[in-house]
Amino acid sequence: MSDVPSASEVGSIMDTFSSIGLRRSIRWYEPNKSVEKWKVQAMLEAARLSPTAGNFNGQRAIVVYRDEDPEIWEFISDWSQITTQMAPVLIFWCYDMGNYDTMGQSIHDLLRTGALDKAHGWEYDRVSRLFPLPAMLPDAVLHRLAAIDLGNAIQNACLVATSLGLGTCLNGASGGARRNTKAKFNLPDTYVFSWLMTVGYPAESMDGGGARSRPPFETMFFEKQVGNPFERNPEVVKLLQDLNMLQPAGPLPGRLEEINKLTRRFGLGDEWLTDWKLEDSQLGDLAGDKKPAPLSAEEVRATAAGASADPSGFTLKPTVKREEIQKYREEKGIGDAD
Ligand SMILES: Cc1cc2nc3c(=O)[nH]c(=O)nc-3n(C[C@H](O)[C@H](O)[C@H](O)COP(=O)(O)O)c2cc1C
Repeated sequence: MSDVPSASEVGSIMDTFSSIGLRRSIRWYEPNKSVEKWKVQAMLEAARLSPTAGNFNGQRAIVVYRDEDPEIWEFISDWSQITTQMAPVLIFWCYDMGNYDTMGQSIHDLLRTGALDKAHGWEYDRVSRLFPLPAMLPDAVLHRLAAIDLGNAIQNACLVATSLGLGTCLNGASGGARRNTKAKFNLPDTYVFSWLMTVGYPAESMDGGGARSRPPFETMFFEKQVGNPFERNPEVVKLLQDLNMLQPAGPLPGRLEEINKLTRRFGLGDEWLTDWKLEDSQLGDLAGDKKPAPLSAEEVRATAAGASADPSGFTLKPTVKREEIQKYREEKGIGDAD
């Protein structure tokens, strides 16, 4: 039987304000809670609908299910392996530079379907003369455009994921991982692998212990010219708080306990417990990058007290240490070129 719900069951889960406000980079997943395929499709459908420069439509994704390929995480990036081991779904986001070859057609299609009109200066023959304009632009420019498009697509997918109760995190890839990805997924030469996204149900709280740090609004946005901050109206702030878009900043009480209990639950060993005091963001004070205060071993252990091993026996491999990765690779016969 189909597990695809009706529109009325999905429709009111979360509005745009709330999903923008609640989205976090989730780095702890329920490893055994599978993600419904319709939700993955919904994310991809959202990515397909994102705007692209000149209707470029170069966004691409390869969806991989960890359980069907349990060793997939080894071929990813050194830095992302803890997150990727836990997530049941991994999405490899790419863009296809090959689409620049058919951009004339893409723009013609906008004329054909009534998105672009003559009043705005668009005409079939004029577009034919101008395109393939991209073939004349430097590669660096084209990559930048395609990467921006991909970012928009990824963000659409993230917001749909949040609305459907899923967590996501983008993960970078080392050079080796990029090479591996090309062979593993049969990527055409025109595909550029950009980011690996983990997808799954959060094992940490959905709000990730509070909204993540951002510099003050006034240092980022301006009116008329830089140096003249866009005035942040407190009434609008209050409205957006009421709409759940602006949420309390982390760390919320209990965050350290949450992280450390998860560390224990997934069998990483006490040397992996976070052993510093969590404190408020210092992004508002550019001279304020102070090292967090350490906690004693006893204080650290207390934060994880009461945590028990995952009932399924799922344990993480502590691969963030380079020597651990090296050992694992040697045992498995994975060479540098893999
Ligand atoms: C393009 C991109 C790449 C990222 N790569 C990583 C990564 O490799 N590892 C990781 O833990 N987080 C990664 N992140 C997540 C960021 O650290 C995160 O977005 C940022 O700290 C803000 O937190 P938030 O997403 O929870 O609001 C990435 C985010 C973006 C947009």
